[in-house]
Amino acid sequence: MIDAGVATVLPAARLRGELRLPGDKSISHRALLLATLARGSSWITGAGDGADVRSTAAIMGALGANVEREGEDGRTVGYRIDSPGADGLTQPSATLDCGNSGTSLRLIAGMVAGLPMTCVLDGDASLRRRPVARIIEPLRRMGAELHARNDDSLPPLTVVGRTPLRAVDVTTPVPSAQVKSAILLAALRAEGRTTVRERVATRDHTERMLRARGVPVDRVADPDEGVAWSVEGGVTVQAIHQQVPGDVSAAAFWLVAGSIHPDAELTLRDVGVNPTRRAVIDLLRAMGADIEERAIDDATTDAAVDDDAGEPMADLVVRSSDLHAIDIGPADVAAAIDEIPVLCLAATQARGTTTIRGAGELRHKESDRIAGIAAGLAAMGARVDVDGDDLRIHGGVALRGAATDSLDDHRLAMTFAIAGLVAANRTTIERPHSAAISYPGFLSDLERVRA
Ligand code: S3P
Repeated sequence: MIDAGVATVLPAARLRGELRLPGDKSISHRALLLATLARGSSWITGAGDGADVRSTAAIMGALGANVEREGEDGRTVGYRIDSPGADGLTQPSATLDCGNSGTSLRLIAGMVAGLPMTCVLDGDASLRRRPVARIIEPLRRMGAELHARNDDSLPPLTVVGRTPLRAVDVTTPVPSAQVKSAILLAALRAEGRTTVRERVATRDHTERMLRARGVPVDRVADPDEGVAWSVEGGVTVQAIHQQVPGDVSAAAFWLVAGSIHPDAELTLRDVGVNPTRRAVIDLLRAMGADIEERAIDDATTDAAVDDDAGEPMADLVVRSSDLHAIDIGPADVAAAIDEIPVLCLAATQARGTTTIRGAGELRHKESDRIAGIAAGLAAMGARVDVDGDDLRIHGGVALRGAATDSLDDHRLAMTFAIAGLVAANRTTIERPHSAAISYPGFLSDLERVRA
């Protein structure tokens, strides 16, 4: 229930139901960008219809692609994109508004760095607090000119593109798929072969999707440097028809809800289970969660859709379980970066003390998620110790309803709402509408599963 911008969640006696999630946010952004770089008509089916993906779609239109929405159902939408291709894109006439979306800002900066145009990328108050030096530095090395507020540290970000760019060999300064992807997108417009190295592997959707669109991307595992990806500049990106799987980061809220609620069985349809994104499933299983996974055979999906862009899907069934504590290290944090807040909730209900080490990147998300999650869960009676970038969560605590604040951060809003399903009495969440950044329909799903 929502009243005057505050959501109230009451405890649920049981959780049952079958849910379809919004299309994966990360994959949807990339599908829109690559469809715009490709000449001709691309179709994207099942894209996420949250505010972040809408921001990217609007920007692709501003760059000169014709972007049409079709068949929206409240959480997913289809897009038809007719684009003149990278060489036909045009200088936008206004600032490109990325809204709340860090992925839009960073990936689009890489995309336009090699185009003959000047773009100013900006967004809301939260986005204006998020770091951009991490993309300015490598894109400058490639020859583009970039400037940002506050000594080149914060948006708005101005990108003066250069054609062609220089190929580089770089290691990302922090584990970040956004930084890696910005460099790979710029590399398409560089002379020669660009290599991006990451010490800790992050999501590889850009790499898979480039391959699906005809651009060879090589992967080399390097024992010292982690993983290296390389791409040759000047290869044409092809227009394709692509289906986007359900968002595993959205599924994570129900995986935790189903695991910690004493009377739950929830089925989640068509969830993306890319090996670089599924860490939340594996970490919950390591905690003792009962999650059944039924792989989806390609042959059973819509015959008109010929390309999953290398993204595997599965149906997931989660049932009540007794969780126990685990240790979550820096590589797990990178792999489950968006799911750490809801995993903290799971940890409050697990036997023993869960440790999360090396979570500093969480401070640079839509809010300072370490501070936000610790404050909200503590208000509900959890015991969370924060020590620098590490957290210790003492489990086995009976949560009680309390007033929580999403800080306008979608993942915190949804985590506190799920906590409210298992807490005693009434939980309130300030600014719950931020959920629609990644999960339009979340609040109605929350009512549906308790029926
Ligand atoms: C994303 C990468 C992650 C993640 C974000 C989406 C992406 O950010 O937190 O929600 O689509 O590449 P970083 O790569 O900067 O950690």
